[in-house]
Amino acid sequence: MNIHERLLVIDFGSQYTHLICRRVRELKVRSELIPWDRFSIDLIEEDVKGIILSGGPKSIYEDDAPTIDPYIFTYARKRKIPILGICYGHQLMAHLLGGDVSRGKKREYGPAILEIVGESKLLTGLPKKSRVWMSHGDLVIKLPSNMKISGRTENCPIAAYESIDGLFFGVQFHPEVKHTEYGMKILDNFLKLCGFRRDWVISDIINQKIKEIRQRVGGSRVLLAASGGVDSTVTAKLIHEAIGDNLHLVFINTGFLREGEVEWVLNMLRNLGFKNIHYVDASDRFLKALLGVEHPEEKRKIFARIYAEVLEEAAKKLEREYGRFRFLAQGTIYPDRVESGATSSTTDKIKSHHNVVMPTLSSLEKLEPLADFYKDEVRKIARLLGIPKEVWGRHPFPGPGLLVRILGSITEEKIRIARRAHKIVEEEAKKWGIYDELWQIFPVVLDSKAVGVKGDARSYEYIVAIRAVKSEDAMTAEFARLPWEFLEHVAKRIVNEVEGVNRVVYDVTHKPPATIEYE
Ligand code: XMP
Repeated sequence: MNIHERLLVIDFGSQYTHLICRRVRELKVRSELIPWDRFSIDLIEEDVKGIILSGGPKSIYEDDAPTIDPYIFTYARKRKIPILGICYGHQLMAHLLGGDVSRGKKREYGPAILEIVGESKLLTGLPKKSRVWMSHGDLVIKLPSNMKISGRTENCPIAAYESIDGLFFGVQFHPEVKHTEYGMKILDNFLKLCGFRRDWVISDIINQKIKEIRQRVGGSRVLLAASGGVDSTVTAKLIHEAIGDNLHLVFINTGFLREGEVEWVLNMLRNLGFKNIHYVDASDRFLKALLGVEHPEEKRKIFARIYAEVLEEAAKKLEREYGRFRFLAQGTIYPDRVESGATSSTTDKIKSHHNVVMPTLSSLEKLEPLADFYKDEVRKIARLLGIPKEVWGRHPFPGPGLLVRILGSITEEKIRIARRAHKIVEEEAKKWGIYDELWQIFPVVLDSKAVGVKGDARSYEYIVAIRAVKSEDAMTAEFARLPWEFLEHVAKRIVNEVEGVNRVVYDVTHKPPATIEYE
C-alpha cells in the first residue's frame, strides 16, 4: 500500500503514454504506468482512485491488438473508480462495452476543433469550441448503452463521450499534448472526478524519502557509483542527508569521459560535502577491451561488463578497509525502471542501457530512491536540495559516454576527436545561450572519411555530425532548429581546431524514427 493515492495509466503502446503520466503528476497526483499485457484487476489496489487507458498505434481489429480484461469496467463501477480512455483507449472502452468502432479510411493527424455537445462533466469549464490534437485511424461510430456524446469534431462525430453515471469517459484526441488547448483542464477535471487528494508535492516527498532511507539503512554502509550526472548526484545527496558518511561514492574513469570531466566531477562532489569519494582510473582497461570493437551492442556489452568488474573490485577493496556494505545505491529513475522491467510486447528493446543491465554486486540490497520520479522531478529535487545548476542543468550523458558517439571501430584517434569536438560544441552552445533550451547537444564521430581541402592540400579526414534535440523526456525528440550562424561557427571551430576532421554535418532527424544517441 502506497502513502499517495494513485492513478494507473494502462499503456497500449502510444508514444505519449509517459507524457500522460507526467501531466498527471504536474497536477499533483501520483501516476504509474502499466503495460497492457501486465495489467490484471488485482493491480487496482485500494489506493487507486482513477484509471487512464492510453493511446496506441494498433487498430482494435488487428489480430494481435492489445486489450484488457473487460471485467475492469464492472469492477471499477463497483468501486466507483472513474476511467478515462484516450485515443485507442477511447475506442477500446467503447468496443468492450458494446459500442461500434469503424476502421478509418484514412488517418487523421493534427489539429481539429472540438465542439462540446450538451452537458459534460469531463469538459466542464471549456469554451464551446477549442483546438485539440488528433492522431488516429479508427473511429467510434456507435456508443454503448448508457453513454452519451459530449464532443465532436468535423471528421469525428464521437470525439468525446461519457457514461450517464459519470464514471467512464472517452476522448479521441490527446489531452496530454500541448497542442490541445485545454488538455490540462480536461485532465484536471478528470482528476477532480476521481476525487484525488493532490498530494504529490515534490518538496514534501523529499523529507519523506530521506526518512524512508534512514529507516531502511540504519547504521549500514551504502555504496554508490557516482557519475557526476544529475540522477546519481541527487541519489547520493538524498542518501547523504539521511545517513551521512556511511555513504561511499565510487567514481570510475572509463576513458570515455569528456575533456576535464574527471576533475570537474571530483570537485563538484567535494563541494557538495561528500567525504568518502573513491576515484578509480580504469581508462586503460576499458580502452584495451574496446579498441577495434565495431558493433554497437558489442561495445555496450563489453563496457557494461568491465564497469561491473571494476565496481566489484572497488567494493571489495573498500570492504577490506571500512567493513561490509549492505546496500548498492543506484540513480535509476522511473522511465528506466518501466523500460527495463516492464517492456511489453508492443515496445521493442532498442538498446541495452548499461546502467539498467548492471547485474553485479548481487548480494547487496538495491537502494533506488529516485525510482518513482521522472527527470524533471529529479531536477526539481536537485534544486530543492541546494545542488547547483551546473549539475541539475547538465544535459544527460549516457553511461557508456563517448563510446556510443563514435561509430564503427574504436580508435584512440576517434576518441581524441570526440573529446575535442565535444568541448567545442558544449562551450559554444553555452556561449550562444542555446544549451539550456535543449535536451542534449553533442558531436558524433562518423566511421567514414571524406575528401576536403585544407590550405592547399587535399585532405581525407573524419566527418563529425552534430546532434541537437529538444525533448520532454527522451521518449520522443525533435531535432532543434538551430541558427545557421551558430552551426557555421561551430563547424568552423571543429574543422580548424580538431585535427583529423575536415567536415561537419547537422542531423535533422527526429526520434522516432532515429534515436537520440547513434549507437
Ligand atoms: P536514445 O538514444 O535511446 O536515448 O534515444 C534516450 C536518452 O537516453 C540516454 N542514453 C543513455 N543513458 N545510459 C544512460 O544513462 C545509456 O546507456 C544510455 N543510452 C542512451 C540518451 O543520452 C538520451 O538522453
